[in-house]
Amino acid sequence: MCGIVGILGKSSVATDLVDALRRLEYRGYDSAGIATVESDHLERRRAEGKLKNLEKRLLSEPLAGRTGIGHTRWATHGRPTERNAHPHMTAEVSVVHNGIIENFRELRADLEKKGHVFDTDTDTEAVVHLISHHMQQGLSPVEAVRAALGELQGAFALGIIFAGHDDLMIAARQGSPLAIGHGSGEMYLGSDAIALAPFTDSITYLDEGDWAVMHRSGVEIYDRAGNRVDRPMVKSVASSLLVDKGNHRHFMAKEIHEQPEVISHTLANYIDMAAGQVRFPDLGIDLAKVSRLTISACGTAYYAGLVGKYWIEQFARVPVEIDIASELRYREAPLPEGGLAVFVSQSGETADTLATLRYCKAGGQRIASIVNVRTSTIARESHAALPTLAGPEIGVASTKAFTCQLSVLACLALALGRARGTISEAKEQEMVKALMEVPRHISSIIRNEQQFVAIAQELSKARDVLYLGRGTSYPIALEGALKLKEISYIHAEGYAAGELKHGPIALIDENVPVIVVAPEDALFEKTVSNMQEVAARGGKIILISDAPADKVSCSLAAHIEMPTSVSFTTPLLYAVPTQLLAYHTAVVMGTDVDQPRNLAKSVTVE
Ligand code: G6P
Repeated sequence: MCGIVGILGKSSVATDLVDALRRLEYRGYDSAGIATVESDHLERRRAEGKLKNLEKRLLSEPLAGRTGIGHTRWATHGRPTERNAHPHMTAEVSVVHNGIIENFRELRADLEKKGHVFDTDTDTEAVVHLISHHMQQGLSPVEAVRAALGELQGAFALGIIFAGHDDLMIAARQGSPLAIGHGSGEMYLGSDAIALAPFTDSITYLDEGDWAVMHRSGVEIYDRAGNRVDRPMVKSVASSLLVDKGNHRHFMAKEIHEQPEVISHTLANYIDMAAGQVRFPDLGIDLAKVSRLTISACGTAYYAGLVGKYWIEQFARVPVEIDIASELRYREAPLPEGGLAVFVSQSGETADTLATLRYCKAGGQRIASIVNVRTSTIARESHAALPTLAGPEIGVASTKAFTCQLSVLACLALALGRARGTISEAKEQEMVKALMEVPRHISSIIRNEQQFVAIAQELSKARDVLYLGRGTSYPIALEGALKLKEISYIHAEGYAAGELKHGPIALIDENVPVIVVAPEDALFEKTVSNMQEVAARGGKIILISDAPADKVSCSLAAHIEMPTSVSFTTPLLYAVPTQLLAYHTAVVMGTDVDQPRNLAKSVTVE
């Protein structure tokens, strides 16, 4: 994972490097560092932990230099210490790296035999010594990098600078995203266009296997085979403003509150409001003839996909295969002829999702992706990109991106149902109307936010928490449990309510809160029976439901009353209380809500 930046500037670049890194902290925040070319040698500053530690270090030990690279790290190889922080360097060369060098052990052993002394536990250091080695053999920086790239296996995005070369930076991309920014007499490098937004909106994305030789006057790009290639320059729409928290204490709170608005925007993109019908983009495949759908994603996006499966199977009567991306590809799942594969990703850069997309593409599937970052690799490699209009999501725990993903999947289910004749026009209008009411209902849930604070006080004392749900509430139970464990570090598990008696019931005693997601739908009575099984064993039930109190025949520790809604839309609504419960519990526990330990927003390693 990690975020990388580079600047060939007109004046000192340290401050701008840090500014760009701030925009990349979503990719990791275990350590940060920058390196610059200072006349004939390289200098660097690094610090363990978040970027603010590096900023402090730079105040007491400033760094000069017009050419520099920077890095914010999510540790893969080696503990997150200053010693293992990027940039890594030798006397000749300094490197920042995102990804994993798979053959670093072999390279390191070989270079050590040749006399190179390593002083970190990282895979990246092998790249530095490899390039250094080639330069010591008399190769120029460009020749040395070209030779080294031929020897590296794995996934990487690299930014490289050289001692004594103030007007040179080399970038390389294989499996991890990289964007080059064009300024006037200045050039930039970044893991994404957002990092470069304050400096330029003229962006060239490197393709797989590309590497680029950058000077202040421009860039030469080569493909894997070493042929000079042209890659288009595009205008980035990334906002130059760093998104702020507004009146909220955390980005996560702000993003939860933004949901009514961003869901409206997203729905408006897929619905003809006047006609009350879905207006879905052409996916380049006849939806009436799709015989099977494959959905794949990771984390929260996977749970959105799971809701999508329930909807599509129920309303469009198409069988849906769904799996987490890291499993689907490796179990070599057979793919149907003429099938449609749908990928869900906030960042559009998740390595496992991308690899599975490529597996499905090679297997002849039509590829559609539901993405929040329109310029992302997953969006660009899809036949059709279906944007969520959630805006930048900064909190590592996904909230508004999830409900926007659900909004697109709901519209996809309706579009498929209409095309296949399983939903009538009148039914479509009824369901569209229900979707259009979602933002209003979510606003009313958020207005009652205060009730979550008291429940969170209780949850914060628990060691384990169970979440139960049936039907589309099952993925919401899974997502609710994920939210709680991600940001409060309390162990939480989501289960299908019917599965309770097959194991998890053994965990229940008076210390285990059980959060039951149970809208008053066709499955409600069944879930109530499971709730009674919990109550009989002393479990503390927190019910999230629109059912009136008299319909619930067991005692509750808390009842989160939900607005009455059409059952089709309940996943969108019931996600919100689970987000608020997790958020307020984390606040009570005093954890780092927006940047929880060990996690990162965008996971670009397998
Ligand atoms: C990380 C994030 C999760 C996210 C998952 C998939 O694990 O912490 O919040 O759901 O990646 O990310 P994507 O960008 O593909 O939706």
